[in-house]
Amino acid sequence: MTLIDEIIRLKKEKKAIILAHNYQRPEIQDIADYVGDSIELSRKAMDEKEAEIIVFSAVDFMAESAAILNPEKKVLLPTLGARCPMAQMLTVDEIKRWKVLYPLVPVVLYVNTLASAKAYCDICCTSANAVEVVNSLDAETVLFGPDHNLAEYVRRKTGKTIIPIPEKGFCPTHLLFQPEDVQALKTKCPDAVVMVHPECSVDMQSIADFIGSTSQMCRYARESNAKKFIVATEEGIMHRLRKENPEKQFMLAYEDAVCPNMKLNTLERIYVALKEEKYVVTVPEAIAKRASKALERMFELKK
Ligand code: 13P
Ligand code: SF4
Repeated sequence: MTLIDEIIRLKKEKKAIILAHNYQRPEIQDIADYVGDSIELSRKAMDEKEAEIIVFSAVDFMAESAAILNPEKKVLLPTLGARCPMAQMLTVDEIKRWKVLYPLVPVVLYVNTLASAKAYCDICCTSANAVEVVNSLDAETVLFGPDHNLAEYVRRKTGKTIIPIPEKGFCPTHLLFQPEDVQALKTKCPDAVVMVHPECSVDMQSIADFIGSTSQMCRYARESNAKKFIVATEEGIMHRLRKENPEKQFMLAYEDAVCPNMKLNTLERIYVALKEEKYVVTVPEAIAKRASKALERMFELKK
C-alpha cells in the first residue's frame, strides 16, 4: 500500500476529512477532500456533519477556528509548529491597550489571530469579506488588526477611519512582493492580468488589476477571459490555478514567495496525524465561547 492508499484507508476508518488551504503542497491539495481559503475552510468544517475528525492542513489559527466552531469534532493540526507569524503579532495586552484609548470603537480582527485575541474583538473577518464586515458596522472608526496592509485596503474601500492594531502587523511572505518584479514580468507579458492578495504592500495593491483572497483569485482566474496572470500571493496557489486552468498561463510575481509554516505539513505528517490522532487542537472553553461569538457574527453576515 502506498502512503496515499493508507491515508485514504484511515480517513474512511476514522470518519475523517482533510481540509487543505490553497497554500498547501500540491500532493496534499490532490488528496484533500476540500481545498480553499480561510473562510471556505471554516465553513466546510461546519458543514461536514458526518465527519468525526477534521485534519486541518494549514496553520494554527485556521485549525483553531475550526475547533472553536466545531466543539464536538476532533480537529487535528498535522504539524504542531505550523504557526502564522502574523497571528502572533497581536497580543491580548495590545488589544486591551487600544481599547483603553478608544473605548467606544469596535474591534475587527482578521482571522489570522490567536483564539485568545479573537475573544477580545467584536467581529472577525477574512481577506474575502473584510470590506463587507467593516461596512456592516454602525461606526465610522474601527480598530483593525493585525495586518496593516489589509487595514489600508479596507480603509480605501470603505472610506472609514481604520486604526491598525498593532501599528505595523504584517505577513513576512507577502512582504516579499515588489512592484519592480511585477513590472519586469509585465515588460515581457504586457497583456498579463495582475492578481494581488491584500496582505501585500499598498504599492503592490496600487498596481493590481484584481485584489482578493486566495479563493477569490482562483474564481477570478477561472471566470476571466484573460490568458496570462501575474500572481502575488504564496506559491502554493499556483498548483490549483494551473490545475483548474490548464489553457492559461500563471507567473508568480516573486519566485521565492513561500510561507515556511504552511509548507511544514507533508503527506507523511498527515498520515501520522490520522494514525495517531494528533495534534488535537484545543481552545480553553472561556476563550472559545467568546471567540466563537466573533466568528459566528461574521458568518451571519452572508447567509
Ligand atoms: P486567504 O483567506 O486569502 O486564503 O488568506 C489566508 C492567509 O493566510 C493569507 O496569507
Ligand atoms: Fe500567515 Fe503569511 Fe503564512 Fe498566511 S502566508 S499563513 S499570513 S505567514
